[in-house]
Amino acid sequence: MASNLAVRHYLQFTDFSADEYAYLLERSAFLKAKFKRYETWHPLHDRTLAMIFEKNSTRTRLSFEAGIHQLGGHAVFLNTKDTQLGRGEPVEDAAQVISRMTDIIMIRTFGQDIIERFAAHSRVPVINGLTNEYHPCQVLADIFTYVEHRDSIKGKTVAWVGDANNMAYTWIQAAEILDFKVHFSAPSTYQLDQKMLSPNAKKHLTIFENPIDACRGADLVTTDVWTSMGYEAENQIRLKAFKGWMVNDDLMTVANSGALFMHCLPAHRGEEVSASVIDGPQSVVWDEAENRLHVQKALMEFLLCGKL
Ligand code: CP
Repeated sequence: MASNLAVRHYLQFTDFSADEYAYLLERSAFLKAKFKRYETWHPLHDRTLAMIFEKNSTRTRLSFEAGIHQLGGHAVFLNTKDTQLGRGEPVEDAAQVISRMTDIIMIRTFGQDIIERFAAHSRVPVINGLTNEYHPCQVLADIFTYVEHRDSIKGKTVAWVGDANNMAYTWIQAAEILDFKVHFSAPSTYQLDQKMLSPNAKKHLTIFENPIDACRGADLVTTDVWTSMGYEAENQIRLKAFKGWMVNDDLMTVANSGALFMHCLPAHRGEEVSASVIDGPQSVVWDEAENRLHVQKALMEFLLCGKL
């Protein structure tokens, strides 16, 4: 059954306004409280989520599948290599077909262009479950986690230590919408692509040459793997370039007292983060992972039912 609402997609953080994020954060807390009390809540009764994966996942798959089930619907998992998409069926044709049989679609793929093409031909909402360029669901969960542990992220400083990847670009988009600052630091050969930044990005973004300067005065320090899990052997050049960019106690010490540490996971202890930080008192990585479930439930509910 297709929704009566105009179709909206969630392909980048910029797809929603600050007011809509305020609603989603509030709604995530409401749904999380219901989940903790074992209360049944089925606004998406009989709805079907198609989950299309071109890349591996633990958190994204589990949180979407559990989330749609908890909202009364169910999920269909499609690994692209087992579908005709993996054999060359045009993305546009697959979008037409899949969106006639399901109510909402989550895609994890390589290029943002692929998900944009899919969404342009979909009759139902499409959610970005990670592309090379953006990871909006993760940053939404991270911001919800910050709000839960501290308060509004408005005016705060997020230090990014690592390369210019999908998480970094999404944090920069979020900073512009939710009015906070990003301190970005990466080795010289892994800098931001200026073409990926909006004309206003500089108002919220400062680039540092040194991770310790980026972390000074930060309210949240965050990083990501230097090499994708499973591809370490092929990425010795990256491992060498990132030496000295580990989030460790020295970096956390210069951050604000009360600063939090986040990592979207999976993590390599002893590379991008020391065990003392990720397993230490400032780390909220397990709440961050769990919150994927709650924010994505709010997101799916919002895309299919609007504000309730
Ligand atoms: N953080 C994240 O997206 O995790 P998965 O790759 O396990 O889905």
